[in-house]
Amino acid sequence: MSVLPSPSWQVCATCGNEIPETDPHPRCPRPRCGGLLEVHHRPPPQGGHALRATFDARRGVWRGVLASGVWRFREAVLPSVGDDVLTYPEGNTPLLASAPVAQWAGSPGLLLKHEGHNPTGSFKDRGMTVGVTQARRIGARAVSCASTGNTAASLAAYAALAGLPALVLVPKDQVAAGKLAQALAYGARTLLVRGNFDDCLTLAAEASERLGVYLLNSINPFRLEGQKTIVLELLQQLSWDPPDWIVVPAGNLGNTAAFGKALEEARAWGLIDRVPRLAAVQAEGAAPFALSFRSGFTRRDRVTPHTVATAINIGNPVSHDRAARAIRETSGVVTTVGDDDILEAKAVVDRAGIGCEPASAAAVAGVRRLMKEGVIRKADRVVAVLTGHLLKDPGTGGANRPVEIDANLAEVERVMRG
Ligand code: F0G
Repeated sequence: MSVLPSPSWQVCATCGNEIPETDPHPRCPRPRCGGLLEVHHRPPPQGGHALRATFDARRGVWRGVLASGVWRFREAVLPSVGDDVLTYPEGNTPLLASAPVAQWAGSPGLLLKHEGHNPTGSFKDRGMTVGVTQARRIGARAVSCASTGNTAASLAAYAALAGLPALVLVPKDQVAAGKLAQALAYGARTLLVRGNFDDCLTLAAEASERLGVYLLNSINPFRLEGQKTIVLELLQQLSWDPPDWIVVPAGNLGNTAAFGKALEEARAWGLIDRVPRLAAVQAEGAAPFALSFRSGFTRRDRVTPHTVATAINIGNPVSHDRAARAIRETSGVVTTVGDDDILEAKAVVDRAGIGCEPASAAAVAGVRRLMKEGVIRKADRVVAVLTGHLLKDPGTGGANRPVEIDANLAEVERVMRG
């Protein structure tokens, strides 16, 4: 065993209580506190320049732990774990330029970080590799989550990789078909709860405590450590020259919180010298965080959510406080977009040959709104995060329809002539 002090530990965001990094409690264990935990790391000793060089040198690695776009940044994720990690691998997602999407959004400098290219088709894999690694580390016998679908799919896959039983709770009739199919195929015990996501999360927390199952919602601070690498990887892809804005769809606010933490650490550790502004985008019908933003975060709002973007159909986001800090500390903004805007943006992204699920399109619609309002300027360099793959939600398509024909060439010609 090492005699060095551990490079990481957990801190309660509410009362400041410090606990070891391998403490298995999902929230602060201090009586009557129950605050959200955060992982803190000692700053890596080598300084920003050398750390960037370390991360960059690993980009050519094809095999093993460092081939992962999460564990490539392991000094910023979970430095003490070494090579004993459960990785698919994940990450290494493309940063795309698309003229039609940039034009529609009115933002010439727009790039798309496509997290739908992860193994289970969403950014959740970045958090789950860390969460399930931590689950094994603390000897968990089973793992669970509540989900609008993507977390369930990811948890189911990573639990299967680890040989751990998985329990997922999803809101009945509010989960896209692709996500449910994944959770079932990977073998998770899947409960369709008669209620919404917020009900599922309450129930999952109660059930995991009662049944002794490790909870892997984004309450879990190790998930957020993995999700930070969306930001680290896009900064690396831009040669550590930060964009002016990072725009992200916001539901339970895990990503918004993780992005804020990533940027704060990247600046403190000397990886970047300027912090991009964060823009969190909610669907109009599920926008409690946007409401709180308008009050200067003096209130914490809750709503009964309703949006076509089922992934972000959330009324009481669990990471509200840490996401508010992320917005404040990056001089960020929170905005909303209507379901019509989301579907229009999705059609543009899809027809550009890129494709994404509805919640992801909210980010692109958000860029357009912020451009129109002059919050983002024409000259700004903007990265919008596409959080999930087109195939997640095959039911929410555009106007293009297949044409049925008999099996002969004349029929093909007839259709092609219009
Ligand atoms: N985009 C997609 C595709 C998502 O699946 C989610 C969240 C978000 C955006 C919002 O991210 O919660 O970090 O603000 N999906 C969760 C789930 C809630 O259960 O799959 P957030």
